[in-house]
Amino acid sequence: MSRRLAVAITLSAFVSVALLVNAVFWCPIGPAISINNSPHGEPTPGDVFLGLAFWIALTLAGSSLAVRMPGGTLVDISFAPIVAAMSLGGPTVAGVAALVGTTQTRELRGEVPWYGVIANHSLIMVPAIVGAFLLQAIPGRSLPIVDSLATLGAAAVFFSLNFVLASAFLSLRSGQRFSTPMKADAGAWANMLALAPVAWLMAQMYLAAGWWAVLLFAVPLYTTRLAYQRFVEVREMFTETVRSLAEAVDKRDTFTSGHSHRVQKIAMDIGRVMKVGDEEMEALEWGGLLHDIGKIGVPDSVLLKQDRLTREERTIMNSHPALGAEIIAPVRRLAPELPIIRHHHEWFNGSGYPDRLVADEIPRLARILHVADAYEAMTAARPYRMTPLTPEQALVELRKFGGIQFDPQVVDAFVKTKWAFELADPGRPEVRDIPTIGQAAGLLGGSGEPDSTRPNPATA
Ligand SMILES: [Fe+2]
Repeated sequence: MSRRLAVAITLSAFVSVALLVNAVFWCPIGPAISINNSPHGEPTPGDVFLGLAFWIALTLAGSSLAVRMPGGTLVDISFAPIVAAMSLGGPTVAGVAALVGTTQTRELRGEVPWYGVIANHSLIMVPAIVGAFLLQAIPGRSLPIVDSLATLGAAAVFFSLNFVLASAFLSLRSGQRFSTPMKADAGAWANMLALAPVAWLMAQMYLAAGWWAVLLFAVPLYTTRLAYQRFVEVREMFTETVRSLAEAVDKRDTFTSGHSHRVQKIAMDIGRVMKVGDEEMEALEWGGLLHDIGKIGVPDSVLLKQDRLTREERTIMNSHPALGAEIIAPVRRLAPELPIIRHHHEWFNGSGYPDRLVADEIPRLARILHVADAYEAMTAARPYRMTPLTPEQALVELRKFGGIQFDPQVVDAFVKTKWAFELADPGRPEVRDIPTIGQAAGLLGGSGEPDSTRPNPATA
């Protein structure tokens, strides 16, 4: 556990306890939480306790159905009973329901470390008590319209504060940016606000008809939970399908099995060093996997040929970036990956393919992928070079062809990744004449495919 995470957990635990103690001392439990809402006389302590136990039980049931979203935050329908309990009983009830009701079976089985338990509970307790204090401070709640709007406002504060805190903890724990889980799961969390009116209605039904009527809300809440689960499952299915597709392409050639996965890792590490945005990182993730998808359309007689390719065969092989972009184009979800796939064989000096773009004309992510692709190809065995280059030799090649084949700034970034950790870096070459396109083509010796079956200056 990092020092910053330890400080954050300690702080959140302290704030949770302080808020709950304040609530207990300054905010008596609202009589509306009583399980027997008789219009005559004060509720008995037993009825209040039973009412509190009822809402805690509902919260526990909701917590057991939590769904983990792609960004890593948890979405669970227990927020609805917490908001209802907040509306009926005030800050103390909200705090106790959040503290006890969010207990997970994983925690009881000892599968969550103690600091994780503290973080999980305080992340919900603090927003719940803060929301309840705000709700209690709003006057005129005897009018249903005021009460409903006030409850929606308090729920919005509760959800938002919980989301921000959960994202901050995730960021501290995983090292990813604070904005990453927020952006990934913001849509789902915004939809959670739809639970707020349901929560208010649950509280009204509890008051008007009794505890049993609240159980009728189990159906819409469970349906909501199913919708989140389906969303996650569909996304996972999409991810696995894309992975399988990339692996299928790699496996056509036994020498390139796992190539796309490794290129993806290297490209993302370079992206992190270059501080590319979250959306660009996602594009690198998918683009890394799918960059050679166009090889589906290259016949085995060309793809697996060990002898020198003829001019026609070379043309077919070099068509794979454009072909890959055509294959992916109908998939709207993969639109950001298209430039990466199409331009991952462009050279910095303009002698690559398919569009002969020069320097900054080449999309930055394609320049990143090109370096990752070449490094992986050089350090793996190929039919034309059974003994792969060592990482040191590969780095020398990347440096040598910086400004010719590769963007020198991307190579600089690669040097700072773990892939080049402790390698002797020859540094950027001395100022030199950049070869013309014709000279570069000569250097290629008729080849431009660094990750395929042909050597080029950077891979031979
Ligand atoms: Fe390629």
